[in-house]
Amino acid sequence: MRSSVPLLLAVAGLANALVLPQQAANCSTFTKSIALSNYNTTVLNSTYYPAGGLNNSGTVNSVAFCEVYSSVSYGTGNDSLIFAIWLPDVLQYESRFMAVGNGGMAGTIDYTNMMTQLNSAYGLAVAGGNAGHLASLNNAGNGAPDTYLPYLHDPAQVSAWIHDAISLFTPAAKAIVSASYGKPATYSYYDGCSTGGAQGFALAQLHPELFDGIVAGSPGNWYSHLALSFLWNGQQTNTTMLSQAVLNFTTNAVMKECDAVDGVKDGLIEDPLRCAFDINTLACQSSYATTSNGSVTCLTPAQISVFKAIYQGPVRSDNGSQLYPGFSLGSENEWLYQEGYLADAFSIPILQNLVYDNLAYNSSNFNWASDVATLDTKAGLCIDEISPDLSAFRNHSGKMIVTQGWSDPLNAATWPIEHLEQIENFFGGDVSNLINLFMVPGGGHCGAAMYYPHVPAEYHTVAALIDWVERGQKPDQILSTNPPDGSDATRKLCAWPGTARYIAGNVDDWNSYVCE
Ligand SMILES: *[C@@H]1O[C@H](CO)[C@@H](O)[C@H](O)[C@H]1NC(C)=O
Ligand SMILES: *[C@@H]1O[C@H](CO)[C@@H](O)[C@H](O)[C@H]1NC(C)=O
Ligand SMILES: *[C@@H]1O[C@H](CO)[C@@H](O)[C@H](O)[C@H]1NC(C)=O
Ligand SMILES: *[C@@H]1O[C@H](CO)[C@@H](O)[C@H](O)[C@H]1NC(C)=O
Ligand SMILES: *[C@@H]1O[C@H](CO)[C@@H](O)[C@H](O)[C@H]1NC(C)=O
Ligand SMILES: *[C@@H]1O[C@H](CO)[C@@H](O)[C@H](O)[C@H]1NC(C)=O
Ligand SMILES: *[C@@H]1O[C@H](CO)[C@@H](O)[C@H](O)[C@H]1NC(C)=O
Ligand SMILES: *[C@@H]1O[C@H](CO)[C@@H](O)[C@H](O)[C@H]1NC(C)=O
Ligand SMILES: *[C@@H]1O[C@H](CO)[C@@H](O)[C@H](O)[C@H]1NC(C)=O
Ligand SMILES: *[C@@H]1O[C@H](CO)[C@@H](O)[C@H](O)[C@H]1NC(C)=O
Ligand SMILES: *[C@@H]1O[C@H](CO)[C@@H](O)[C@H](O)[C@H]1NC(C)=O
Repeated sequence: MRSSVPLLLAVAGLANALVLPQQAANCSTFTKSIALSNYNTTVLNSTYYPAGGLNNSGTVNSVAFCEVYSSVSYGTGNDSLIFAIWLPDVLQYESRFMAVGNGGMAGTIDYTNMMTQLNSAYGLAVAGGNAGHLASLNNAGNGAPDTYLPYLHDPAQVSAWIHDAISLFTPAAKAIVSASYGKPATYSYYDGCSTGGAQGFALAQLHPELFDGIVAGSPGNWYSHLALSFLWNGQQTNTTMLSQAVLNFTTNAVMKECDAVDGVKDGLIEDPLRCAFDINTLACQSSYATTSNGSVTCLTPAQISVFKAIYQGPVRSDNGSQLYPGFSLGSENEWLYQEGYLADAFSIPILQNLVYDNLAYNSSNFNWASDVATLDTKAGLCIDEISPDLSAFRNHSGKMIVTQGWSDPLNAATWPIEHLEQIENFFGGDVSNLINLFMVPGGGHCGAAMYYPHVPAEYHTVAALIDWVERGQKPDQILSTNPPDGSDATRKLCAWPGTARYIAGNVDDWNSYVCE
């Protein structure tokens, strides 16, 4: 098949007619014969999809591909991880392998990201797995208080959730690629966000030989303390809820004060750390009512102290040391997620299932000093990916791109900045040949934030990563496109600590900015 490719390229007009039947036949027969026992892996089934043949929630495949499902047994051999690999027809394949990560508690394959990657212009063979457990056996993948989640009681399944989610299937997936195209992929990439961002850090840290380039978005790689931040915010707001109207009022006030700090009034705060907004300025004068005709006009003392606590983030009750960063100016609008929802979905299930193994455990009794060490031992060691020592990945010439929205309502935006500083401290200086962080003004969790529909929400990270890995072009800026409001606005994302400065021209054109 390999030797016929140049000929087929030479007669491009005939290419489809000649290639498709062959590829289709290989999909139904050849893929099942690939020997994967060395990888504890069994091929389950395969299906051929012509272009347009698979519709994944409204997005169809632009290239024909062969889908192969396989099962990897792991742990003591009783556990299994299911993964799918999508092998584009050989003419569309450019010798690149891409693995995608999971979100939240995983247990399902991220077909949405697989489709994005398959449809990209980069000729990727794309694989994605379920992280070694089934959402269907774990409350449909949704954590909830007082609910038994089997995967959190099996140490092998806990390791497979984040530490080894991708590494467990990558060798077998690469073997399928090699067998299908007659040689190994030239380059291997990974893309994941949220839990997938943590899985990206796990790869760099624990499995540095598997990938040449990694994209880690909104990384929850300090997962145990991310869960603490959800619990903290849930507790802070348990008696004093901040309503959507109060949150809107506050973000509007923040925007008014911070928008122009970067020299351009565009409904966007380029760097929230540079704005000196003081929440006290929104305090109600004692003689004023909080609301008049239903609209919020000021904040009560109780509301102000809750805002301060969420901006501050969780701290130890004994000595005040920070346990996770707080939230940034301009992100308030979507804090409803923090008002119990995320504590119920992640913190309480992790405490009850993984840390205390007691579904009756009452999280209100979490001791914000003495219980932190218990959390670190019982959860942190199994699910955190925070070692700054990425030297093995650096020795492998690995490259990593991290993105983080300033208005992410789940992950406190400055955590990736702190972690980058930890990595810089470990290596004793600049690490931009290894890892670059792109903060996204008005960005949310793995994409758009509700308050910022005018902000481009598609980050061209994979394009930048390929340029970096394959052509040595270090990314100091990344294009973003496709805002939810449907405009054709583009923006320039800058490698931190750079930020985009407006020069001249259309404020909605990324060429009007420079990174500095
Ligand atoms: C399937 O692919 C393999 C490996 O590239 C090749 O040797 C074989 O001839 C192909 N089979 C068919 C039926 O196209
Ligand atoms: C396959 O599984 C066995 C036992 O479960 C384990 O010892 C071995 O390391 C696994 N092999 C690979 C390649 O993962
Ligand atoms: C292939 O296996 C996967 C994983 O078990 C399953 O979800 C899918 O329905 C199977 N497809 C076919 C065509 O049998
Ligand atoms: C794909 O599926 C969506 C529903 O998920 C449907 O609205 C859409 O019409 C389908 N598109 C095609 C081309 O079949
Ligand atoms: C694995 O399955 C075997 C056979 O069902 C059982 O005897 C063994 O206890 C299981 N091991 C674990 C760790 O669940
Ligand atoms: C809020 O209070 C309720 C009632 O005491 C409790 O069930 C819930 O767990 C609390 N939520 C948080 C995040 O502390
Ligand atoms: C409600 O009150 C605010 C502040 O007092 C005022 O600006 C606004 O016009 C009022 N809205 C209506 C619908 O009366
Ligand atoms: C607070 O206590 C913890 C646990 O003993 C310790 O690790 C940390 O360094 C202390 N922080 C400060 C600011 O004293
Ligand atoms: C959890 O503990 C808090 C504080 O001690 C208490 O108010 C609440 O009733 C307890 N919740 C349950 C369900 O026992
Ligand atoms: C990385 O390479 C350096 C220099 O060759 C070597 O000293 C170091 O041991 C390597 N580290 C790892 C983790 O491979
Ligand atoms: C809050 O603002 C959003 C836009 O960011 C708007 O859609 C929503 O209706 C507002 N809600 C309230 C209660 O003001």
